[in-house]
Amino acid sequence: MESPEVAALGAVDMSVQPNTSESHWSRHAAQWGKVGSPLRPVDEDADLYWRAITSSLAASELAGARVLLLGVTPELASLRWPADSSLLACDSSLDMLQSIWPLGRFPGAFSAALNADWRALPLAPGACKLIVGDGSLSTLGCADDYRRCAREFYRVLQPGGCLVLRLFCQPRKPELPEQVLADLRRGHVGNFHAFKWRLVMAIHASNESACLADIWARWESGFPQPETAAALSGWSLDAIRTLEAYRHASARYSFYGMAELRSMLAPEFEFLDAAWPGYELGERCPIASFRRTA
Ligand SMILES: C[S@@+](CC[C@H](N)C(=O)[O-])C[C@H]1O[C@@H](n2cnc3c(N)ncnc32)[C@H](O)[C@@H]1O
Repeated sequence: MESPEVAALGAVDMSVQPNTSESHWSRHAAQWGKVGSPLRPVDEDADLYWRAITSSLAASELAGARVLLLGVTPELASLRWPADSSLLACDSSLDMLQSIWPLGRFPGAFSAALNADWRALPLAPGACKLIVGDGSLSTLGCADDYRRCAREFYRVLQPGGCLVLRLFCQPRKPELPEQVLADLRRGHVGNFHAFKWRLVMAIHASNESACLADIWARWESGFPQPETAAALSGWSLDAIRTLEAYRHASARYSFYGMAELRSMLAPEFEFLDAAWPGYELGERCPIASFRRTA
């Protein structure tokens, strides 16, 4: 049965069937502890999120705010939320909800999690003041989904409400997959997850419909033995093996440039500001804020 608090947040139907790739996110949940920056937010991101949130909304607006979290990112649930705020985390993966959502420590008044699809949120119009998410848009498979989300986020936000997201942006001049793999052969690489993200982005730039299984195939044909990549880079085999989650996965990520992203979120959202973290690949991971248009 729906709790009174969830009803207060405007949740009207808990049974919407999600249609994102459950199995990919189940594997992600299972290897969560092995995933690092930039795929997961670090303290620097948390500071930038908080700066973006507090410069988009006045303290009085944030005080009793109802916040919608796109996903279950524990680092976002654990931000310095005001004591009387509430948080509803929405995720289509039951495994992410069951394994990762409990890791967050929400300091506000009430939090709950909802198994639903962002493209068809079971929430009343104007149910929340703020939507936050970490890399959420890049988990959508195609540009149409961005538009569906923009309309849904507009609908469930109150007038004046804001959207604060860490984006994963393609660089102006996307890399080629061969360039990224050649960097590894020369040992010109930093942290493994930044490398993995470069490879995923480069493959997406060369083929927008590439699914994760295609990324695995490209990787495996370049480096059939993970030990070779480990010797060249110093990465742990455990980290490298997180790529195996992509084998046979039909799920897709998507990446666009900042200008394209802004135009895909318009006219429902006007861009307010963005800040770029200083870590490796941070230039592709801005934390951007948008205001719901009137
Ligand atoms: C927030 S995103 C990005 C991951 C993020 N960088 C992190 O690790 O916190 C990941 C989550 O989005 C969820 N997800 C992806 N597409 C979704 C959709 N259309 N509706 C609801 N949840 C979705 C996945 O199940 C996953 O738990």
